[in-house]
Amino acid sequence: MIGFLQRLFVRGEPVLSEATIRDAAAIAALHGVSFRRGWSDDEIERLLIERNTVCHRATAGRTLCGFILSRLAAGEAEILSVAVTGARRGRGLARALLNLHLRRLAGLGATAVFLEVDEDNEPARRLYRRAGFREVGRRPGYYQKDSGAPATALVLRRDLA
Ligand SMILES: CC(C)(COP(=O)(O)OP(=O)(O)OC[C@H]1O[C@@H](n2cnc3c(N)ncnc32)[C@H](O)[C@@H]1OP(=O)(O)O)[C@@H](O)C(=O)NCCC(=O)NCCS
Repeated sequence: MIGFLQRLFVRGEPVLSEATIRDAAAIAALHGVSFRRGWSDDEIERLLIERNTVCHRATAGRTLCGFILSRLAAGEAEILSVAVTGARRGRGLARALLNLHLRRLAGLGATAVFLEVDEDNEPARRLYRRAGFREVGRRPGYYQKDSGAPATALVLRRDLA
């Protein structure tokens, strides 16, 4: 009976909350499978320890299904990473995480949020477009495709004030 309830809970809707240092390993693992360049547990741990880092997570039971991580300085925030586990994508989880995150950043005094996104990353571009981000710059050759060919980073901005 307990096993059944646990399985039901794990399969249920993810819960959004602030991440803590105890999430570092799970965040590093999800980051690692989501991006070409991974971050080590230590790198994530160091970021989470910093006072100006803001990180939210989505969890189902004890399993991390998504996170979003920013750094805030002098009233401006930069979203450093956002990822949702493959099986949970396309169901609005990143949108929910981003909305919560932007509200928190505004509450902490951020008036503008920046990020870089690969111009070929359609899901991420749609996510940010819907959230009101606009393009303010381009960095050709900033990323590398799997083929080794250069890819352009778009610099996006959203004002919060
Ligand atoms: C980008 C990412 C976080 C989106 O997570 P998600 O939970 O699937 O996103 P949502 O379900 O909230 O959808 C966000 C938007 O992307 C669109 N989208 C989702 N999956 C898509 C796909 N495979 N192709 C095209 N658009 C897609 C959704 O339709 C939605 O746009 P809409 O509101 O205009 O309909 C996820 O794909 C991911 O983790 N990718 C790998 C890491 C990454 O690229 N992070 C972004 C770095 S800047």
